[in-house]
Amino acid sequence: MKKIVILLSWIMLLGMTGSLVFAQDRQGDPKSGNGIYQQHCVRCHGISGSGDGPEAAFLTVPPTNLLSERSRVKSDFELYMTIAHGSIYSPMHGWMGRLQDHEMWDVLAYIRFLAPYKAIAQAQ
Ligand code: HEC
Repeated sequence: MKKIVILLSWIMLLGMTGSLVFAQDRQGDPKSGNGIYQQHCVRCHGISGSGDGPEAAFLTVPPTNLLSERSRVKSDFELYMTIAHGSIYSPMHGWMGRLQDHEMWDVLAYIRFLAPYKAIAQAQ
């Protein structure tokens, strides 16, 4: 029993440190991300990222204003998951398979350039 507990602790520790290494490993290139953003994302999210692209007016679910605080407080990983897998019941489909993994990190880096990560949300 004790051995199992020790083994499980190791697995958990590996899991936690592993994701830290993973997170640090993923530094996208905002320059290349800019090109991808202009090509694929600007039509909905707009040049500034505020969600006012030319197609936005025709969508039932509005594109996220990436500059909003709600969006900026999300972690890289959360945003990456939406970029990769999309958002259900919305025109935001996943880009996995259409973009390469590093391209999704690049475009995320560009989003972070437009709308830097904000650690703490301001009280309303
Ligand atoms: C057809 C329009 C459309 C295109 C093209 C599009 N998006 Fe979106 N995007 C949306 C919509 C709509 C949402 C909001 C989904 C929701 O509210 O469920 C969204 C949400 C997101 C979010 C989640 C933001 C948050 O705060 O959770 C990210 C990140 C994002 N898009 C990035 C991208 C990137 C990067 C591209 C280009 C590779 C892209 N989008 C292309 C419509 C689009």
